[in-house]
Amino acid sequence: AEVIIVTDPESAGALVADEIVSLLRRRPDAVLGLATGSTPLPVYRALQPRLAGVDVSRVRGFALDEYVGIDPAHPESYRSVISREVVEPLGLDPAFIRTPDGSDDGIEHAGEDYEAAIAAAGGIDLQILGIGTDGHIGFNEPGSSFASRTRVKTLTEQTRADNARFFDSIDDVPMHCITQGLGTILSARHLVLLAFGAEKAAAVAGAVEGPVSASLPGSAIQLHPHVTVVVDEAAASALR
Ligand code: F6R
Repeated sequence: AEVIIVTDPESAGALVADEIVSLLRRRPDAVLGLATGSTPLPVYRALQPRLAGVDVSRVRGFALDEYVGIDPAHPESYRSVISREVVEPLGLDPAFIRTPDGSDDGIEHAGEDYEAAIAAAGGIDLQILGIGTDGHIGFNEPGSSFASRTRVKTLTEQTRADNARFFDSIDDVPMHCITQGLGTILSARHLVLLAFGAEKAAAVAGAVEGPVSASLPGSAIQLHPHVTVVVDEAAASALR
C-alpha cells in the first residue's frame, strides 16, 4: 500500500476529496464505496466545495454496511447517516445511493441483492474505508473470511462499545449488522483507508505491515493491488 502521513484529518479529507473529484471528472457515473463512522467525515466535508460545478447527477454509491433491525428512519441508521452526511450535502441522487437492507423483512436476501446491485453497477471504483480498533473493515470482525461477500454478522462487544457514542447507551447499539464482505471490498478497484488517532495505531500497523490474517481483517488490504492509506501521525505511530 501507499501510505500517506498527514498532519490532521482535514488535510486527509482534502487529499482524498481531490482524488474523488478527479475520478468523477474522468468518469461522471463512477461508483463510490461509502464508509460511515467518524473517520470519513472530513472527506465528505471537503468534497462539498470541490464539487461545485461538477456534474454529480450520475454518481452511484454503495454504503459498506448497515445495522440489522434498526428503523431506517433512526438518525443513526447508516441509511440516515449517508443521506445526512453525503447525499444531501453533496447533492447526489438518492435513487443511485444504496445501503444494505437491514430490515427484518428483507434480511434473507439482502446480502445477495446487494452483491447483485454492485455487480450491475459495474463494481465499485473507489472504496473509502475506516478501520476499527479491533482491525475490522466494514463490519468484518476478526475471523471473517477473506472470500466473504455481503452478509449478516454479529458485532463484537468492542465495536458496540466503540459505537455507543452514537446512541443513548450501549444497550441501544444493535447486536447485528449486514456488511460488505472482505471479498466484496477486495473487488473494488481502488481502496482508500483512512485512520486518525493513537487508538487506531495498532490496527493500522497490523493492516499495513502485520501478517495477512483473518485475526486482523484490515490486513486483507495487503492482497489488493491498489491501496492508499491516509493516516495522521498518531495513527501512523506503530508503523515501522
Ligand atoms: C463504517 C465501517 C467501520 C468503521 C470503523 C471505524 O461504515 O464500516 O469499519 O469505518 O468502525 O469507525 P470510526 O470511523 O467511527 O472510528
